[in-house]
Amino acid sequence: MRKKIVAANWKMNMTQSEATRFISTFLLEVGESRDVEIVLVPPFTAIATVNAALENAQHVKVGAQNMHWERSGAFTGEISPAMLRDLFVRYVVLGHSERRILFGETDEIVNRKVRAAHEATLRPILCVGESLEQRERGEVEQVLSTQLRGSLAGLGAKELQETVIAYEPVWAIGTGKTATAEQAQEAHAFVRRVLGEISDEATAEKIRIQYGGSVKPDNARTLMSQPDIDGALVGGASLDPRSFAQIVQGAGEK
Ligand code: 13P
Repeated sequence: MRKKIVAANWKMNMTQSEATRFISTFLLEVGESRDVEIVLVPPFTAIATVNAALENAQHVKVGAQNMHWERSGAFTGEISPAMLRDLFVRYVVLGHSERRILFGETDEIVNRKVRAAHEATLRPILCVGESLEQRERGEVEQVLSTQLRGSLAGLGAKELQETVIAYEPVWAIGTGKTATAEQAQEAHAFVRRVLGEISDEATAEKIRIQYGGSVKPDNARTLMSQPDIDGALVGGASLDPRSFAQIVQGAGEK
């Protein structure tokens, strides 16, 4: 049985004081349930503050939105895996479509980061997903297969099991256009099939696959009740503590 994982990708939002305020409301709203793994993914500048605010809520984990693959050196403006470990970060979002499209990250770059994350015992949340043009041209499977094989190259079964995949169709991100539960399930089942080809079926069954793209309190439960949807990676709706708490609760309902 895969434990659902719901993560808040705050992107380039939230100052330290906003993050602190978010957490005090969120913890009250979300309640005590431990059925769902919760991850907050603040900008680097708020990570230490988020850790401090979560002192009595150790079940809520912290992630980062990106990192460099090298251990240290002359890479102005970059953050290393060890620096994230030093901040008690457990997860790192890699290959988000905004990184791929706006900052030119290729599957090869994402693969270096994914491998560096595992070396540092950080768990990657690897994002994959097609654009609207690619969907209209009937290329969804080809795009997902290429991104998965390229980004996960060289990983063993144990590392794959400790990787979370986020299927985020680019056309659904920040647009209010959610994939239907059927469209999302179809893509997730395909992702799992490719994961089985990369490793083996038993390993693929253990890997959690999140859906991302305009997840809101009113669609979260339907999406996450699909057999291959194991959680959500939430952007806009995760900036509101009540909305994000409702989404987490939606993951816990059958
Ligand atoms: P939205 O939830 O704002 O569509 O963003 C999704 C996303 O990109 C999460 O990583």
